[in-house]
Amino acid sequence: MSKELIQSFITYFGGESKGIRAFVSPGRVNLIGEHTDYNGGFVFPAALTMATTVLARPRSDRQINLIATDLKQMVYAYLDELYKYKTLKWGNYQLGVADELQKAGYILCGCDLLYDDKVPLGSGLSSSAAIELATALALVSLGDASQGVKREIDLVEMAKISQAAEHNYIGVKCGIMDQFASAMGKKGMAIFLDCRDLTWEMVPIKMSGYKLIITNTNKKRSLGESKYDERRSECERGLVCLNKVFPKARYLREISVDDFYKYKNLIEDEIVRKRVEHIVTENERVIKSVNALKRNDLKTFGKLMNASHDSLRDLYEVTGIELDTLVMEARNIDGVLGSRMTGAGFGGCTVSLVEEDMADEFIQRVGEVYKQRIGYSASFYISETGNGSREIIL
Ligand code: GLA
Repeated sequence: MSKELIQSFITYFGGESKGIRAFVSPGRVNLIGEHTDYNGGFVFPAALTMATTVLARPRSDRQINLIATDLKQMVYAYLDELYKYKTLKWGNYQLGVADELQKAGYILCGCDLLYDDKVPLGSGLSSSAAIELATALALVSLGDASQGVKREIDLVEMAKISQAAEHNYIGVKCGIMDQFASAMGKKGMAIFLDCRDLTWEMVPIKMSGYKLIITNTNKKRSLGESKYDERRSECERGLVCLNKVFPKARYLREISVDDFYKYKNLIEDEIVRKRVEHIVTENERVIKSVNALKRNDLKTFGKLMNASHDSLRDLYEVTGIELDTLVMEARNIDGVLGSRMTGAGFGGCTVSLVEEDMADEFIQRVGEVYKQRIGYSASFYISETGNGSREIIL
C-alpha cells in the first residue's frame, strides 16, 4: 500500500492514519464465453492484477464522502437518502451498492472513502465491477465493525448485490460474470463459471511459452449507451420462440447446438436467429476451451478464441471497426494462436494468445496498423492474473 495514498486520504479527510482500512478488488479479462452469462450459460474469466483500491474510515454520522485520486470534486451523500444520487457522473456505482446492501438488510455506517482506480475506465475490463466489489467489501466491513459484528463476508453474495446495483441503480441489465470474477478471482486461475446456478471450477492457466496480451481500443463507450440491453432482449425473444418445442427451457443455455439447428426456423426474425446462434455455439466453445486448457492444448484454444470473435462480429454484431482491426492484424502475426474481443464489445479490449518471443513485435505491429487505420493509439497490457476482492492489512 503506497504511503502517498494514505497521505492523500489524510489531506482530503483530515485526522491521522489510525482507523484507515484498505480494500482491493480487481478487473477481469474474459478468456471466452461472451454474452452468455445473462443467458444462464458458461463464462471463463480471470481476475487481473489491475485493481481498484479504496481506503475507508468510519464516521460517527450517516454521511458517505467519496473522492478518487484522479478527481477533484468530492461527492457527499447520506445513507438515508440514497435514492437521490442515481444520476451522478461519478459515485453512482458506489452509492448503488450502498443502497442494495441496505435493502438486503446490512447495517452500514457513515464513512470517508478514497478510490484509486487502476483498471482503465470503460475499457471492457470491468472497471465498474472492481469499484462495486471494493465498495461492498469496505461498507460491510466498516458497518460490521461499528456494531462489533465479526463474520466472514460472503463474496458471492457481494457479487450478486453489486449486480443488483447495476440493474436497479445504474439501469444496466448486466450478467453476473464481471462481479463474480472480481470477487472470486485467484492468481494463476481462470474461473469456469456456470451462470445458471453459480457453480464454478478454478482452472489453472498454464501458458508455457505464450502470453495473453490485452489490447485496449481506447474507444470510449459505456454499456448504458450501447446496444447491450437490446441484445439481451433479442435473446429473450429467441427463447420465447424455442419455448414452443422446449417449454421448460428457462435460458438459451438449455438449447443444444444440434437442437438449435433443428428448430431454428421457429425463430422467424433473422436477426434474433443470428443472436441465438451465437449464444448456443459460444456456450459449446467455452466447454471446449476449458477442456483444451486442461490438457494444455493452446492451439485448439486459440482456434476457439478466433471462432468466438468471428461469431461476435457476424452473428451477435457487437465488435466494430476498432476491435476488428486489432483482431485481424493480430492474427496476421506469426506466433499468434488466437485473438478475440473480451467483455461486452462495442469498443473496449481484445485478448490475444501470443508466443512469448513475439510479444514485442506484436505490440509494435498491431499498434502501428491500428493508429494508421483508426487515427489514435491502442494500449497494450501483458495480462497477469491476480486475486479477487480482499482487505489489505495496513
Ligand atoms: C459485460 C457485462 C457482463 C457480460 C459481458 C459480455 O461485461 O457486464 O455481464 O454480459 O458484458 O460477456
